[in-house]
Amino acid sequence: MSTASQSTFADLFFMDPALIADPYPMYARLLAENPLYFDANLGMWVLLGYAEVSAGLRDPRFSAQRIAGADELPPEWAAAQPLLEYLARQMLFRDPPDHTRLRGLVSKAFTPRMIETMRGEIQGIVDDLLSVVQARGEMDVIRDFAYPLPTTVIARMLGVPERDNDRFKHWSDDFAEFLGTPQMDAMERFGQSMQEFTDYLRALIPTRQGDEQDLLAALLHAEENGDTLSETELLANIILLLAAGHETTTNLIGNGLYALLTHPDQLQRLRDDPSLIPSAVEEFLRFDPPVQFTSRIAKEAMTIGNQEIAQGYEVVFALAAANRDPAQFPEPDTLDVGRRDNRHVAFGFGPHFCLGAPLARLEGQIAFATLLDRLPHLRLREEAPPRLANAAFHGFQRLPVAF
Ligand code: HEM
Repeated sequence: MSTASQSTFADLFFMDPALIADPYPMYARLLAENPLYFDANLGMWVLLGYAEVSAGLRDPRFSAQRIAGADELPPEWAAAQPLLEYLARQMLFRDPPDHTRLRGLVSKAFTPRMIETMRGEIQGIVDDLLSVVQARGEMDVIRDFAYPLPTTVIARMLGVPERDNDRFKHWSDDFAEFLGTPQMDAMERFGQSMQEFTDYLRALIPTRQGDEQDLLAALLHAEENGDTLSETELLANIILLLAAGHETTTNLIGNGLYALLTHPDQLQRLRDDPSLIPSAVEEFLRFDPPVQFTSRIAKEAMTIGNQEIAQGYEVVFALAAANRDPAQFPEPDTLDVGRRDNRHVAFGFGPHFCLGAPLARLEGQIAFATLLDRLPHLRLREEAPPRLANAAFHGFQRLPVAF
């Protein structure tokens, strides 16, 4: 384990528990030295500054196609091949023209209008979850609330049976573990999980060719200029939607609630003025984002600031560090639920900007408004609840509260 004064991004990447719990002093120190640096232990460039991260995510010289093909795989990764094959077809990992095409087709099904029609349903799910725990006077926010909320919502939107939620969780957890912290000895499990996930969806689809109004049916029928999704693309992007709905909104709710409960002045301010809920949710996303970083490949040699990035290098975009850049956010380490002009990059930036952001925002706003309204005496039951063992997806294993 390295000390806070010398740790680098590589230590977070290799899961130093102290950095997983609180990476922000490390980001601040590195950022003050340089908004981008070459991390020799990782063999990657790391962009930390807000200007560099947001410009880089729009720069077509960076490629999102970072999933190795079968012919480039190191032998230890061979068992993960089924996962990589589908991953490589997700819009998240494609460049134009494939990205534009896939995002266009999925956006035809996953529309802001469809999301807005979920408002009443989301409120109903939130109310039901809180009714189960209310009389108990305590809950684990992750297990009892923040996890079942987005997973139920995305399962209902897609029209996949809710009784299979635990199976989706298992598959999605493996998927997130692979993206965040791929350990060599888990490759077989990752490959196996993806195989099961795709077998499951392949069996489900033929039962769904009718006139259902849900997202799965809309994806099956999505068409633009005569173009449709191939079976692999369809499965790959359903998995992306399901997994994205599982691993991120849960952590927005967990991280946001923890931030509030450890900043009682901001909690009181929000209770006194619930019209601040939307800006509070944006502030939670800025302050302790569920996705700490993403990455790209330099397609060509380029100069950023006074640094030369050679062609072919992987570049980490430290979204969470950019969200605390003092050049963009006054008093970046202060939680301010009324923060104005909060153009954080928790949902990314540019062409891959999170497609699910309107859904995540809606769920977050309804969740916080209802939690504060129904549970007036919320407090933490554990001072430092354990963090997830994942460097990229930042959240809690559990978050016990009383109310
Ligand atoms: C608070 C919750 C969420 C956070 C913090 C989040 C974060 C992100 C980030 C940072 C990216 C961009 C990654 C990159 O550029 O490499 C992204 C992309 C994406 N997200 Fe989310 N996400 C959240 C919720 C969701 C939800 C609920 C869904 C869908 C159900 C979703 C679907 C997607 C999709 C499809 C993409 C890929 C977009 C593209 O490549 O064009 N996300 N998300």
